[in-house]
Amino acid sequence: MPDKIKIGYVGIGRYLPENVLTNADLEKIVDTSDEWIIKRTGIQTRRIMGQGESVSSMAISAAKSAIEHSGIDAEQISCMRVGVNTHLRFPSVAAIVQDALGIEDVSASDIAAGCSGFIFSVEDVYNRLMTEWMLYGKKSYGIAMGVDGLSMVTDWTNRSTCVLFGDGAGAVVIGPVEAGEILATHTKTEGKYANLLELDEFLSVPLEDTKKMTFRHRNNTNYPFLTMAGPKVFAVAVRSMVSEVRTVIKKYNQANGANITESDIDYVFPHQANLRIVSAVRDALKLTPDRIFSDGVKKYGNTSAASIPIGYVDQRGKRPGALEVDVSFGSGFASGAILRRVAP
Ligand code: UT7
Repeated sequence: MPDKIKIGYVGIGRYLPENVLTNADLEKIVDTSDEWIIKRTGIQTRRIMGQGESVSSMAISAAKSAIEHSGIDAEQISCMRVGVNTHLRFPSVAAIVQDALGIEDVSASDIAAGCSGFIFSVEDVYNRLMTEWMLYGKKSYGIAMGVDGLSMVTDWTNRSTCVLFGDGAGAVVIGPVEAGEILATHTKTEGKYANLLELDEFLSVPLEDTKKMTFRHRNNTNYPFLTMAGPKVFAVAVRSMVSEVRTVIKKYNQANGANITESDIDYVFPHQANLRIVSAVRDALKLTPDRIFSDGVKKYGNTSAASIPIGYVDQRGKRPGALEVDVSFGSGFASGAILRRVAP
């Protein structure tokens, strides 16, 4: 690849609902305790969508904030990918965001890849911008997003799941850079684990099968709940995130004749599912606590596809020139990683 082609993050943004749900609030609705939640998950608070907020409204706000941070004109955006699992309607979130931004001639679509939707989106936008530049000489910008409102599909009577999740959205503007570029990406899906973390189909199942499904009742309509085999997910999560970090480094090394090792990584943004998962990944990669992001899970819970870009805003401007890795896993089981350099 010619040296001059560099594509990286030029702006980041997010949206978090105002409404804060604490462990003390959860103690009032299920048989749980602040002590149990903190010890087993690290989560202290999460944000839950309130009246008038939706997956698409959060996405619009996050996209606008990332564009503002980038300083580009929204008209320069040629593609948009939105990692999302909880937009239980159509058209896509991407189409709604595009309309709200008032931009045209954009390839905009959603990506369903569980909590890894943001990584899949970045990879897609990056590959597209790269192809347009290399094949057609066209330099432009894209937006990659992660957004989810898991509170809509959470069973608020199930203590094993309802303490874990929060809502939110994050976005990055990606485009040509002088420095601070994406170095490699990798994504992978292992459908054999799909039933460990899922949301039942609800419109297509035969009527006699609906009794097997877990529903919540809303507006006189039956909606399914998210179900999860927590301890099994935990084990797959740690294994796949560690493997993704190693794979993306190897991929970069092979393509560039480089010799980057895990010890060269300055900072890791792992998907924020559970503080114990973050700690297990940290230990496996032999990272010190200051080299891995863990505040997101404490403050916002597991925000699914949004967790990594939400964390970027917490860490904005902290490590100029650093070598960073983003890594995620989630329903599917879809996992992925991005190796990138932060702008100096
Ligand atoms: O984005 C990907 C999404 N998913 C994840 O990342 C989840 C990965 N898994 C996990 O994070 C953990 O497995 C959980 C946090 C979900 C559960 O923690 P655990 O340490 O694996 O607990 P467990 O499911 O093995 O349950 C242990 C005990 C059980 O009680 P008994 O059977 O031992 O009496 C549960 O009923 O803890 C009980 N329990 C709770 N107790 C108080 C489960 N949830 C709660 C709760 N409060 N909220």
